[in-house]
This record gives sequence, structure tokens and C-alpha cells, in this order.
Amino acid sequence: MTIIRGATTIERDDKPSIVESVKTLLDDIFQINALKKEEIKVFVFSLTNDIHSYHPAKAARESGYDFAPLFAATEPDIDGGLKLCIRVMILTELQENRGVKHIYQKGAKTLRKDISEIFNIALDGPAGSGKSTVAKIIAADYNILYLDTGAMYRACGLKALRLGISPKDKGAVEKMLLDLNLSVEYRDGKQHTILDGEDVSLAIRENVVSMAASDISAQHAVRIKMVEMQREIAQNMSCVLDGRDIGSYVLPNAKFKFFITADSKVRAARRFSELAQRGEHVDFERLHAEIVARDKQDSERDFAPLVCAEDAVVIDTSEMNIDDVVTAVKKVIQSQI
Ligand code: DC
Repeated sequence: MTIIRGATTIERDDKPSIVESVKTLLDDIFQINALKKEEIKVFVFSLTNDIHSYHPAKAARESGYDFAPLFAATEPDIDGGLKLCIRVMILTELQENRGVKHIYQKGAKTLRKDISEIFNIALDGPAGSGKSTVAKIIAADYNILYLDTGAMYRACGLKALRLGISPKDKGAVEKMLLDLNLSVEYRDGKQHTILDGEDVSLAIRENVVSMAASDISAQHAVRIKMVEMQREIAQNMSCVLDGRDIGSYVLPNAKFKFFITADSKVRAARRFSELAQRGEHVDFERLHAEIVARDKQDSERDFAPLVCAEDAVVIDTSEMNIDDVVTAVKKVIQSQI
């Protein structure tokens, strides 16, 4: 008995998505493994319990896989598990002894990182465009890492502020970098930014750090160091990275690139309520002016500025809620993964 495994995800919980995904998965498993009908003993499907609208076994039968018993069962709900996922185990009696290939498609590629290609998703855009919220949801849904690159520049800015160094002072910043001890760690799926042994994840969110981060991020030496860390992480695992230059400079070959933007007033309003929720009260007009200044500085710096990569999908979120943006991003990913 040889068992061939496979899995896929569906875009939406509806019949066409289920039929299309099941058919593509089975067609590919059959074609890649050169399977013959007579070799198949049984198809066993399992599906996550957010799928209700159609039965994968029925979808398989309708797609011509009606020559062996088909069975499907719903899996228990697992915290942090992949969403809208259909798995299959095909029990076979192969006519000759040959190796088999297990097939993981779409979002399910992340289930088997060992046999699936690593892919990166670049989400660039200005402050307050909603990209970090979207990045976190996408990373959780695909069960891949979320790397907040802004946090790294913020930590550099924070260190400069603490040392009383101007983030614009090239010499002083280069000296500071010599003993910068910065790392990102992941606990319970959340990024923690560690600066000189201290978890600064909260401290870097203060508004005063935002401009310092923008100033320091314009320094060539800082970018070289941060980009090196970012590339190393992205090379070794599938991840979503949000930032300003990910698609254009850090990972020009990222499989998916998005440029998330929104009107500056809308972005300022979002930042305003984010800060208010954390108990930081700022003047709205001032915050708006700061955001506009930061956009300008981030876009006009010489090296790796905030720019929309030529091949990025642009999403203007001014009139979209987070669910709409996530759906739009996933639609592009699902159609190409
Ligand atoms: O996304 P954020 O607001 O946390 O980023 C803080 C600053 O860091 C931002 O003003 C520009 C800079 N940054 C950058 O230059 N490149 C990145 N990839 C991410 C952030």
C-alpha cells in the first residue's frame, strides 16, 4: 500500500471554489504521479470546519474520480490552523515500485514547507495604509511568518533617541551601528523586537519614534544592515514582509507584490485612533502634517525610497475596510500560487 497525500485551500466557501480546487489537486496528483485508475483503492478527504457549502467527495466524483470509494470528514477546529483547507490521502496499490510525489497547492503549500517552494509576499506602502494589519492577517491565514521591517528601523531610531544621537548624524549613527544588537523573535506568532537584550516592541510604537525611524532609515549604512537581516529571514522561510522598499529593493523577486496606499487624511485618522487606543493623545492636524512629512522624506530619500514596484498590485484602501483589503490580496495570491 502506498499513500499519496495532497492539500489545497479554497478562495471562498462556495461550490465553484471547492470543485475547482479539488479537481486541480486531483488532476495534478494523478498527472505528476502517472497514476492509473486501477491503482487507486480509496480517496480520503478531510476539510477544515469553516467549509460548509459543498462536499469535497462529491466534487471529486463530479470531476471524474468515481472509480474508487470516496470519503470525507471535517477536522476539529485548531487554533492557528490553516483556514479553508481541503486535504486528501489517496491509498494506492501501485503496479510497480516507484516513488511518489505529495502535492501541496495554494495556501496549503505552507503546511509542508519541506516539500513546497518558499514564497514571499511584499506589502509596501506609506504609513497608515493598513498594510501591517493586512500583513498580520495574511501571515496567520497562510500560516507563514510576518516580518514587520518598519519595527527594525524604529528600533534603530529608538536607540539613537536614547543615546541622544541625532538620527540624521551620519557619523554618529554609523558608530552606533557598530554595537547595535538587534534581533526579531517570534513568540505565540507575534514579532518581538529585541534591542540590546530588551523587548522594545511597545516602546518603538510611540509617536516620537516614528519620525526618528524615518530619519534614520534614510541612512545608507542603516539600510544595508537592516536589508541584510531581512533578506536572510526571507530566504529561509515563506513570509509576508511589510515596509517601503520590499518589492522594489529588498526582494525584487518576491512572488507577490502589493502596494497598499490611502489618502493621507484617512491614514492620519487611522494612526490617530491607533495611538488613542494605546492612550497616546496627539493633535490630529499635527499628526497629519507629520504623516505627510514622513511620506515625503521616505519617498524622496536617495537610497531605496518608498516606491511602488513596477510589478506590484496597487490597492487604494481609502474606502475599503480591512476585510475587503484582505480579500483583494488573497484573490491575487490564490490565483497565482
Ligand atoms: O511602517 P512604519 O511606520 O513602522 O515604519 C517606520 C519608518 O521606517 C518609516 O517612516 C520608513 C522606515 N521604513 C523604511 O524605510 N523601509 C522599510 N522597509 C520599512 C520602514
